[in-house]
Amino acid sequence: MNIGTALTNSATKALLLGSGELGKELTIALQRYGVEVIAVDRYPDAPAQHVAHRSHVIDMTDGEAVKKLIALEQPDFIIPEIEAIATAALAEIEAEGACTVVPNARAIQLTMNREGIRTLVAEQLNIPTSRYAFAQSFAELKAAVDNGIGYPCFIKPTMSSSGKGQSMVKTPDQLQAAWVYAKASGRVDTGKVIVEAKINFDFEITLLTVRAKNTHGEIKTHFCEPIGHLQEHGDYRESWQPQAMTAAALALSQDIAAKVTTEIGGLGLFGVELFVQGDNVWFSEVSPRPHDTGMVTMITQAQNEFELHARAILGLPVNTQLQKTGASAVILGGIDAKGVVYEGLAQALSVPDSDVRLFGKPEAFTNRRMGVALAHAPTVDEARAKAIKAANCIVVKHSE
Ligand SMILES: Nc1ncnc2c1ncn2[C@@H]1O[C@H](COP(=O)(O)OP(=O)(O)OP(=O)(O)O)[C@@H](O)[C@H]1O
Ligand SMILES: [Mg+2]
Repeated sequence: MNIGTALTNSATKALLLGSGELGKELTIALQRYGVEVIAVDRYPDAPAQHVAHRSHVIDMTDGEAVKKLIALEQPDFIIPEIEAIATAALAEIEAEGACTVVPNARAIQLTMNREGIRTLVAEQLNIPTSRYAFAQSFAELKAAVDNGIGYPCFIKPTMSSSGKGQSMVKTPDQLQAAWVYAKASGRVDTGKVIVEAKINFDFEITLLTVRAKNTHGEIKTHFCEPIGHLQEHGDYRESWQPQAMTAAALALSQDIAAKVTTEIGGLGLFGVELFVQGDNVWFSEVSPRPHDTGMVTMITQAQNEFELHARAILGLPVNTQLQKTGASAVILGGIDAKGVVYEGLAQALSVPDSDVRLFGKPEAFTNRRMGVALAHAPTVDEARAKAIKAANCIVVKHSE
């Protein structure tokens, strides 16, 4: 495709729905190719809005507000960065045919609700997942657990991300609290929760999978090296690449990722979350967009996940090759405060082969991700130690 000139009538325009740290890097990647980027979020001065050409603050779950903004901006691409979006409005816009929803409206609809993607993957594609059931009342939940899911199990709102509303239940007496928590904390109360049997995995991975056009205009599927990660309270704390695994498990992982992303379709990068135990692999979920654990690719790959997403969307060729072994460690707020100050950046960057991203979020919360430390090294263990050391150098403080 031809790229226009940003801020003129010929501009190629991308409207980002969601302007967090992943959107910020994507904005930079798109702008490097001259794309005009408009960053949207529910609050002002979100990370991507610091670097976009312009920004808007709207309630992205409000279909009318989303449609009004699209009519005003007339973007070529609508790129959802978060899950909480009025997906019906996106489907309408897509049907009108004037712009591309990335990767497509159905993908956004399917993945925003755990029921959509889980049912498709497990029941239509016959891919292994944890045993699961959906429940609309505590009685239904109890029956599902008693009649086959068993303990330990995970209870999650059908619409939530970053571990919100999610709990692991080990014994029957904890079930009621998990039900109440999931019902209260979902992004949207769908009236349903999912209960999943716990998979005793050796490790979990994100397999970044890219659907991109080759020089003949054919769509091909590409895989990055698997990314291992550590989750706490449903949110990621550390990731590394490559995650060592058996050849059989890797082949199975790629096979699952190819099947799922081919079914979803469109162009772009996907984060396929998988659980691995020996040669066995279970599908967990998929993001039709860059993945937080994939931030490690900012130090490991020539084309990081944001660059890959930008290229795939624009119909450009991609290269998913790993260049260095590396790791990422998140920098949490640690305090609840606005306009915080970051101490220790010089010390963090004194860790050899390290790098740091500070996202510029206007407000810190104790468990809010405010930045990420990156490092490369000859081995994963060394890279993880360096990334953690760099992350620990950064102290988030109240401004004077
Ligand atoms: N069935 C399961 N068996 C074992 N571990 C699980 C299971 N479900 C969830 N987990 C653990 O909890 C983490 C978060 O779960 P999941 O990815 O479903 O939640 P999420 O809210 O979508 O999180 P995120 O948005 O950060 O991906 C998983 O990465 C895994 O570590
Ligand atoms: Mg997840």
